[in-house]
Amino acid sequence: MNVLGIETSCDETACSIVSDGRKVLTNTIASQIDIHAKTGGVVPEVAAREHVVHMIPVLDECLSESGLGWDEIDALAITRGPGLVSSLIIGTETANVISYLKKKPLIPVQHILGHIYSNWLEVEEEIEFPVLILTVSGGHNELVLMRGHGDFEVLGETRDDAAGEAFDKVARLLGLGYPGGPVISRVAENGSASAYKLPRAWLDKGSLDFSFSGLKTAVLDLVKKEGRSDDQFKADVAASFQEAVVEVLAGKLKRAVDANPEVKEVHLAGGVSANLRLREVCGEKFENIKFRFPKKISYCTDNAAMIACAGYHLYDKEKHGVSNVVPTTSFAL
Ligand code: KG4
Ligand code: ZN
Repeated sequence: MNVLGIETSCDETACSIVSDGRKVLTNTIASQIDIHAKTGGVVPEVAAREHVVHMIPVLDECLSESGLGWDEIDALAITRGPGLVSSLIIGTETANVISYLKKKPLIPVQHILGHIYSNWLEVEEEIEFPVLILTVSGGHNELVLMRGHGDFEVLGETRDDAAGEAFDKVARLLGLGYPGGPVISRVAENGSASAYKLPRAWLDKGSLDFSFSGLKTAVLDLVKKEGRSDDQFKADVAASFQEAVVEVLAGKLKRAVDANPEVKEVHLAGGVSANLRLREVCGEKFENIKFRFPKKISYCTDNAAMIACAGYHLYDKEKHGVSNVVPTTSFAL
């Protein structure tokens, strides 16, 4: 079964065709990073206009690269949210029109669910349930226990900023540019993670929730107090900040696995799962359990292959009462 996925929830216009929820035939993305780098973050109006410009060319390129015709596409999958409303609407309207004209079933996919399914892409073997997933990006930060397709329990989520958002804000504070995650981890390579003592918000005893706003404020106070902007200072702050985030993310993930000993696999997903230090620390903690992160960096950050993959697994299931959302409380769905 070939599913064509479309994703426009933030600043990537993306289309992908995935066969049987695994094989990625094409994965086409028009990124707006260069445009948003000028403003240090995404301006929703600008993002929406860029989606209008790129939507049809990206769709055309995706189809022609796959070598498939419309008659070989079995269904469409579209990100329904959460995300920027003015961006989402470009993808959803496009998908609605194609679905109507080409008479294809349209599967709405929650964005967070899409990130979760990024770990199914290009994986040959069967993934064993239950799976514990830390899905963490610029817009969300959740610990999800997945007992099977459509069976999700949110064990913890952020009470304020998502980790990716903290990376972006700290990078901006240090004058490092956008997006923050990749640049902070690059700069951190020249710094010392123990240079500055930054807070770790473990919250109440046993809590699996997250909070990163205090850490962000601590970095702001540190930058003001030190009054420095040289490269070594930036590298040391970046490394100390990254270590604080990684320690909390990996620590909470471990706490969740210990509390659910039936778990067979541990997965990282979302833009922050591209972080090499996070992968390394989690790899050390989960030596005795199957530990996965997406096969490519382009499957960590927003993409349409994960939406097509989730769409494949959801197809036909709603009729049987299977839930198609991660029941998070952080977002309006
Ligand atoms: O999943 P994503 O593309 O979009 C959302 O759904 O939000 O995630 C984007 C986020 C950004 O905040 C970006 O700074 C972060 O993922 N990110 C990283 C890395 N690469 C991207 N954070 C830490 N380390 C990275 N290497
Ligand atoms: Zn995302």
